[in-house]
Amino acid sequence: MRIFQNISLKPYNTFGIEAKASQFVELNTLEEVQVLCKTFNLSERKLLILGGGSNILLTKDFDGMAIKINLKGIQVLQSDEDTVLIEAMAGEVWHDFVMYCVQNNLGGVENLSLIPGCVGAAPMQNIGAYGAEIKQVFDSLTAVEIASGELVTFTNEQCEFGYRESVFKNEHKGKYIIVSVTFKLNKKPALNHSYGAIQEVLQKAGIAKPGIQDISNAVIEIRKSKLPDPAILGNAGSFFKNPEITIDAFNHLKNQYPDMPGYITTENTMKVPAGWLIEQCNWKGKMIGNTGAHKNQALVLVNYGAADGNEVLNLAKQIQESVRQKFNIQIQAEVNIIE
Ligand code: FAD
Ligand code: EPU
Repeated sequence: MRIFQNISLKPYNTFGIEAKASQFVELNTLEEVQVLCKTFNLSERKLLILGGGSNILLTKDFDGMAIKINLKGIQVLQSDEDTVLIEAMAGEVWHDFVMYCVQNNLGGVENLSLIPGCVGAAPMQNIGAYGAEIKQVFDSLTAVEIASGELVTFTNEQCEFGYRESVFKNEHKGKYIIVSVTFKLNKKPALNHSYGAIQEVLQKAGIAKPGIQDISNAVIEIRKSKLPDPAILGNAGSFFKNPEITIDAFNHLKNQYPDMPGYITTENTMKVPAGWLIEQCNWKGKMIGNTGAHKNQALVLVNYGAADGNEVLNLAKQIQESVRQKFNIQIQAEVNIIE
């Protein structure tokens, strides 16, 4: 384990923002994570735990220690007739893990194909896409408590998963380094292809009885057609969460904007696509300096090459303000803003 000084984080964030970390260390084993926590008084330092950097916005140089989690390995812990428990280490690339499951015909994560980032960050915001969330297949995770260096296990319930939420973004923010995640996957999966776009792709391909691989392929095709590839255009996926509003507020707006999409989330609430709200405020495809809202998906803010984090943050604030003024809805960042 070697601690470097003054390292550029540009290769470590998919927004492609230039910012330096005062200290930078890459951890490859559980022992290294524990030794670092126990010997460097980490709980008194400013820390940035890094997976693939696909859900962060760096706003300035980071005057603390950036810790890139690189622990690798996938192992089957238990297997019976119907299910398999698989543990994946935090530094595994999420999509590689999904491909491992798809290739072994293990169902549960195929709808989450091609989400960037690493396994260790997946529980942070309970990643979700195309009708699935990891909480549906999440068994438990192991984390190192930063203050003590000790290992702790969290069950599904203890993670308090919600829409793009977990206990690690709230009560336990900054307290743990996730080192591995265990998933319960299905050998006889009930496939989930209710999402309209998946059905369309399957129909077009003439696939009447899809398997896990077909669902994964369909999701990959949809994602590639909509979302900008961070290797080409810097971004961190959806910049904001889709807001939830009361049914009364929804109906009131629907009178004014009959085309407004929305879907029921609870008895009293509806979710509205933030991308639609942002497009209605004329931000879609608009370029402001080095940044803008993407031309195909207004919810994705992009870096056209030389943006600094504050430029993106200022754009985000302007977008929030115009959505608030037009619709009286406060949209919230989904991306983790690093100060
Ligand atoms: P990072 O960006 O490195 O970290 C995210 C947060 O987790 C940070 O606060 C970080 O400190 C913390 N963290 C990371 N690793 C650990 C660890 N081991 N222990 C403790 N804390 C840790 N997300 C979705 O949910 N659904 C999507 O469909 C989706 N699509 C995307 C599409 C694109 C093109 C992009 C760029 C992003 C998309 N995302 C999506 C967001 C992102 O891919 C996910 O949030 C992903 O899980 C982030 O993983 P990461 O390893 O890159 O995390
Ligand atoms: N829409 C517009 N204009 C736009 C974009 C979207 O009008 O520019 C409207 C359309 O009505 C569209 C609807 O929004 O039908 C939904 O769009 P889309 O299917 O692209 O999904 P989303 O709600 O914008 C969410 C997630 C994505 C996830 C997709 C697929 C959030 C914040 N985002 O996006 O996650 O991949 O659904 O399930 O929940 C991410 O978290 O980074 C992410 C990309």
